[in-house]
Amino acid sequence: RGKRAFIAGVADDNGYGWAIAKALAAAGAEILVGTWVPALNIFETSLRRGKFDESRKLPDGSLMDIAKVYPLDAVYDSPEDVPEDVKSNKRYAGSSNWTVKSFDKYNSLLIGQEVAESVKNDFGSIDILVHSLANGPEVTKPLLETSRRGYLAAISASSYSYVSLLQHFLPIMNPGGASISLTYIAAERAIPGYGGGMSSAKAALESDTRVLAFEAGRKGKIRVNTISAGPLGSRAAKAIGFIEKMIEYSYVNAPLQKELLADEVGNTAAFLVSPLASAITGSIVYVDNGLNTMGLAV
Ligand code: NAI
Repeated sequence: RGKRAFIAGVADDNGYGWAIAKALAAAGAEILVGTWVPALNIFETSLRRGKFDESRKLPDGSLMDIAKVYPLDAVYDSPEDVPEDVKSNKRYAGSSNWTVKSFDKYNSLLIGQEVAESVKNDFGSIDILVHSLANGPEVTKPLLETSRRGYLAAISASSYSYVSLLQHFLPIMNPGGASISLTYIAAERAIPGYGGGMSSAKAALESDTRVLAFEAGRKGKIRVNTISAGPLGSRAAKAIGFIEKMIEYSYVNAPLQKELLADEVGNTAAFLVSPLASAITGSIVYVDNGLNTMGLAV
């Protein structure tokens, strides 16, 4: 049978998560996505109304099918973690026809372990787990001006969220499967403007990739890698404020002077989770037109 993938962090057709979903679908995988609860309604409505049909087109002319969209909030692991004001927030308590148990219990909020449980109930198992999400409420602030709360929020949403996802999904991942996340060069080199502890969060994610590769490799024969992607004008990146500048900088300075397409990251993801990459685990794979190799701006 074909492989089944769960992709956390898809809420429109602009980001890396969408491009990864498409590349996996084109390779024959069944696609499940996890969408942040506040963005869920608009994403599902747009899907249903055909707003994404043009970008759902696969190379063979068919449209990518998303077997199921799961509501997901990566900063809570159990119902007790959810603050009252969030539970009663109407974007979370929105009207939907989800049939999951937690809909009534927790105002439609489905969290970490519950997502894995629902996927297990619906489909039994998965082969591929993709983490394509990040959030840093103080990302526009220099690290020197970042609060403890902002720093920890960045780590919670962008790094621990991956530990939690893999922790909860590993038991339902078929041996030989693989997982990937998305990171950024700011983990290793100073990138002024990528603040609020986001650089720290990516550094944690990269370190965790090595440790999780060992643990998940031994425990479940699962490979764990991360893609260090170049700049893309996604919704999340636009919120940071200097993405156009970074794209321009890359164009001027990278070995390959071309636009970086989300599909190029999608294709690398498809390779990394496929048997073609069966000996690659714990790695950071750069998909950035080579920008990371440069030591001098030209
Ligand atoms: P995106 O906006 O398509 O994806 C970010 C997703 O995270 C969104 O769908 C958002 O709804 C979701 N999200 C935020 N907080 C969440 C939470 N608490 N629970 C669940 N979902 C949550 O943007 P993009 O840029 O494609 O981001 C995907 C990954 O790629 C991120 O890890 C990002 O750091 C990484 N990346 C992006 C680069 C860029 O230039 N766009 C460069 C290098 C890495």
